[in-house]
Order: sequence, then structure tokens, then C-alpha cells
Amino acid sequence: MIMHPKIFVAGHRGMVGSAIVRQLLAQGHPAERIVTRTHAELDLTDQAAVRAFFAAERPDQVYLAAAKVGGIHANNTYPAEFIYQNLMIEANIVDAAFRNGVKKLLFLGSSCIYPKLAPHPMREDSLLTGALEPTNEPYAIAKIAGIKLCESYNRQYGETHGVDYRSVMPTNLYGPGDNYHPENSHVIPALIRRFHEAKVNQAPSVAIWGSGMPRREFLYVDDVAAACLHVMNLPLSTYSQRTQPMLSHINVGCGHDITIRELAGTIARVVGYAGDIAFDPTKPNGMQRKLLDSTRLNSLGWQPQVGLVAGLETAYQDFLDNHTAQPRGTTA
Ligand SMILES: NC(=O)c1ccc[n+]([C@@H]2O[C@H](COP(=O)([O-])OP(=O)(O)OC[C@H]3O[C@@H](n4cnc5c(N)ncnc54)[C@H](OP(=O)(O)O)[C@@H]3O)[C@@H](O)[C@H]2O)c1
Repeated sequence: MIMHPKIFVAGHRGMVGSAIVRQLLAQGHPAERIVTRTHAELDLTDQAAVRAFFAAERPDQVYLAAAKVGGIHANNTYPAEFIYQNLMIEANIVDAAFRNGVKKLLFLGSSCIYPKLAPHPMREDSLLTGALEPTNEPYAIAKIAGIKLCESYNRQYGETHGVDYRSVMPTNLYGPGDNYHPENSHVIPALIRRFHEAKVNQAPSVAIWGSGMPRREFLYVDDVAAACLHVMNLPLSTYSQRTQPMLSHINVGCGHDITIRELAGTIARVVGYAGDIAFDPTKPNGMQRKLLDSTRLNSLGWQPQVGLVAGLETAYQDFLDNHTAQPRGTTA
């Protein structure tokens, strides 16, 4: 066994990749044994460049947290980019990893792989049982291909070459490094920005689309990073007992969901916004519910550590430090 494997974290400047690097360092992994490349240094859609990188660096393990990621609008507007870039990133990394002797790889997908009408909570065996949500189908198809890449390399090269490539499917994530873009961000960073701006501008009310009744699950990004290391480091015999060669991915969620109304109230309290929150039920709600069944991961010995309020406080501090001109102590 290698004492400190050389680890490539693909996408280390993203929200999840940076949390995986933090988690590796927190667990005592030496910084000099972590390999990273920015997008500018290595375009992961470039097969020749990826092969050359792996041949030169020869990492022992890979966390595949690089992806072209975006919200509904971006997915709808750029479907070709979403399917092409994600397929290329995954295929290039998985194959170059295999060619260069990487035994252990962890691929990150997302809960959008499940059918639109999958029963809740969504279990791993819902995969490929029905039609996908059309808005992000190209992205979801690429993520399903990533799972099948890992499984196919395991099936063909597991016994002969010791290949052991695993996949995790996280729920909605939030935390440091999130995208706070005013039009193109997920619900938590969008609400943090809007309540913060309403507080600073002393706005009497914040309007939120929909009834507030849809339910969503949220996980703090350092928890998902800890789950990634946990799954990567499980003994193969343990992992194999809980998975199947062609149904190998593992959900990563906190196990419970809350309404958007409850979420908005909690974020308003964390941010310190005391005005009204006005829901507009004439606007679309999106899916009523999205909750993962994470019992497979729980049965493998992992539990989340960070509660929603504590996680939101850290996220808000990150927003103040990195996405506004004012540090927290100086805001209204
Ligand atoms: N965020 C969530 O709520 C969430 C939930 C479930 C699953 N996930 C999964 O977690 C993974 C990471 O998501 P994230 O939220 O951390 O995304 P992110 O913040 O956008 O990070 C993705 C990273 O990948 C890099 N990248 C993209 N294309 C690349 C390319 N062609 N070559 C090299 N680097 C490239 C990006 O660099 P540039 O920015 O420079 O392009 C960025 O640093 C994804 O697979 C996603 O599906 C995320």
C-alpha cells in the first residue's frame, strides 16, 4: 500500500474540487502529493493533452470533479456544450487514467441522472428506469455515461489490472466557492445574495417565485468532500458488498428535505434580513420534490456533519469575503 498516494484532483478550483483538496489536507495528506491543473493549464476536453499529462504525472488516484456545470438557463441555451464537454472530460480522464496505471478513481455525477418521475426518495436503482427531465437531459446523459465508463473499465480491467473506479451522485450542494451570479446561480447562493442586498438597501420585501412549497435537499460542500474521500477509501470488498458491477454509483445526501419557504426564512435569519418574504404562486414552482435516498452510503459508515444553519453561516461569510466589497462586520 502507498503511504501517501499521488492524487490528481480534476476541477480543483471549482466548489467541489476545492472542498476535496481542503478535505485531503485536513486529513493529513501532504500538499506536495496533490496534483492540480487549472483549465488554462490543461483543457480536459483535449485528449492528447490529457494523455500527456497523465503520462508525465502518473498519479495513483483521481478525483474527477471537473465538469461544465450550470443552471436550467445555461443547460437549455448550450446543450451541445454541456453534452460534448462533459463526455470528453470523463472519457479522456478515465481512459488516460487506465492507460497510465491509475487503480483508483472517483467520478462525481449529480442527482439529475434520475428519471423525472422517479419515486422519492430516489434510490440508486431508479437509474435508467424512465425519461429524464428534458431541460438538462444532455448533461444528465453525459453524467450517466460517466458512471457507465467507470463500471465498464472495472468490468473489463478490474481483475486483470486492478482497476477500481467508483461514482458518487451528490444532492444540491452549497458552501464556500459557490456561484453567486445574480441570474445564473442555484437557490441558496441566489437567496443569500438577494437577502443580503435587501438588507443593505433596507428593502421592505423580497419576492420569491413560486408557492415556496416545493421541497429540496441540501448538503454542505465539505460534507460531500468528506463523503468522496470516504467512498474512495472504502476497502474493495466492502464497496462490492453494497454495490453491483452495473449498478455501482452511490447517492450522497443529508437524507431530509425542506420547503423553499423554510429555506428562505432560515437564510433571511442567517443574513440578518428582517423584512417580508413574499411568495408569488403565479410563477412556476419546478419539481415538487427532489430527495435522494442515501441509505447505501449511510450503511457504508458515512453521515453528514454540518447542519443547515452552520453551513449557511459559513456560506454567507464566504459571500461577504469574496463576493462583496464589504466584510461582514461593516454591513448594515
Ligand atoms: N454544485 C452542486 O450543487 C453540485 C451538485 C451535485 C453534483 N455536483 C457535481 O460536482 C462536480 C463539480 O461541480 P462544482 O459545483 O464544483 O462545479 P464548478 O464550481 O463549476 O467547478 C467545475 C470545475 O471544472 C473545471 N472545468 C470545467 N471544464 C473544464 C475543462 N474543459 N478543462 C479543465 N477544467 C475544466 C472548471 O474550471 P473553469 O471554471 O475554469 O472552467 C471548474 O473549476 C460536477 O460534476 C457536478 O455535477 C455539483
